[in-house]
Amino acid sequence: MGNWQELEHEYLMHTVDRVPVTLVKGEGARVWDEDGREYLDFVAGWAVNSLGHCHPAVTEAVAEQVRTLIQTSNQFYTIPQLRLAELLVQNSCLDKVFFCNSGAEATEGAVKLARRYGKLNLNGAYEVITTMNSFHGRTLAMVAATGQAKFQEPYLPLPIGFTNVEYNNVEAIKAATSDQTCAVMLEPVQGEGGVNLPDDDYLRAVRAWCDQKGILLILDEIQTGVGRVGTLFAYEQYGIEPDIMTLAKGLASGVPIGVFLAKDRASVFTPGDHGSTFGGNPVACAASYATVKFIIDHDIAGNAKRVGQYFTNGLEKLKQKFQFITDVRGHGLLIAMEFNSDIGGAALTACLERGLLVNRVKPNALRFMPPLIISDKEVDEALGILDKALTGIAN
Ligand SMILES: Cc1ncc(COP(=O)(O)O)c(C=O)c1O
Repeated sequence: MGNWQELEHEYLMHTVDRVPVTLVKGEGARVWDEDGREYLDFVAGWAVNSLGHCHPAVTEAVAEQVRTLIQTSNQFYTIPQLRLAELLVQNSCLDKVFFCNSGAEATEGAVKLARRYGKLNLNGAYEVITTMNSFHGRTLAMVAATGQAKFQEPYLPLPIGFTNVEYNNVEAIKAATSDQTCAVMLEPVQGEGGVNLPDDDYLRAVRAWCDQKGILLILDEIQTGVGRVGTLFAYEQYGIEPDIMTLAKGLASGVPIGVFLAKDRASVFTPGDHGSTFGGNPVACAASYATVKFIIDHDIAGNAKRVGQYFTNGLEKLKQKFQFITDVRGHGLLIAMEFNSDIGGAALTACLERGLLVNRVKPNALRFMPPLIISDKEVDEALGILDKALTGIAN
């Protein structure tokens, strides 16, 4: 066993309180630590390993690409990038693509695009309305976009141009709209904020307001996109289309990538307006093409919907058994379980000890976001562990 925890303490900036487990291997929905202990992974790299760990479709695409061409500059055409762009456009309501390397870069780029649109079409309007409890990333501008004081306060003053309003309240968006507003940016389901679902008509009402005012609607589907909530993109379930959409996380099943896509009318960048050294990197794009193609060809979003419902039903049964569970909510395989007190940390530890990895999304809530290829049998196993873990806490 290595002294990894000591090395972390000595060499890494302390930006996260880690779970005391060193993972060395993954396959499907399972990971192993350095002592050979096996865990069922319901965190999946924070909703990233959509096809599970080291899926052959992804590992083969990556291996082939690293043997062929790893990186070029965007001065040149590269085939994996173009194939992926075509696949994303042909399977979404958007027309044009910009590749980057992470979620924060994708949302930041989307906001830059909206500001450019505002300059060209809305008399220089530049403000973006976002919601409380949202999460859009860790760059300074995206911290300003993220409506959570805990992420903002350490960095005040923040860049201007963002207004955070109540989620699920279209009147709040209307009240915040001014002649300086160029866009509204929303997560269809708030992920990091605790898996908060919108009312059925919220997104439609926001879309109608954006149309009425001639401003853009940006959907941040970094967590909800690529099958996670039971359709390829969450917007499909709400009967609306965004003008701009961001993706990252599950897009390449673990290889870092980000993207924002826009409708033709919102695709207003011209050469030099935006760029990225690694954006559209051939290896990342090959991994992403393999992931998205597999998800589409094998209806993995359908699996997320069906197994997500099965899992939710099981969690509901646990809610009936344990009085301290106050809520079970989610869409597809993005699900939260809330408690009546701050036992999230204790529940996480109790699951860990029994071989199940979960995320404590709030002090009083767990979040489950397993690989989208998860089976009923693996869900049964997770439910059994949760039952025992919660029984241990109750006693
Ligand atoms: C909805 C949403 N947007 C943006 C981000 C930021 O992504 P990244 O951590 O890749 O920068 C996240 C990450 O959790 C997210 O959930």
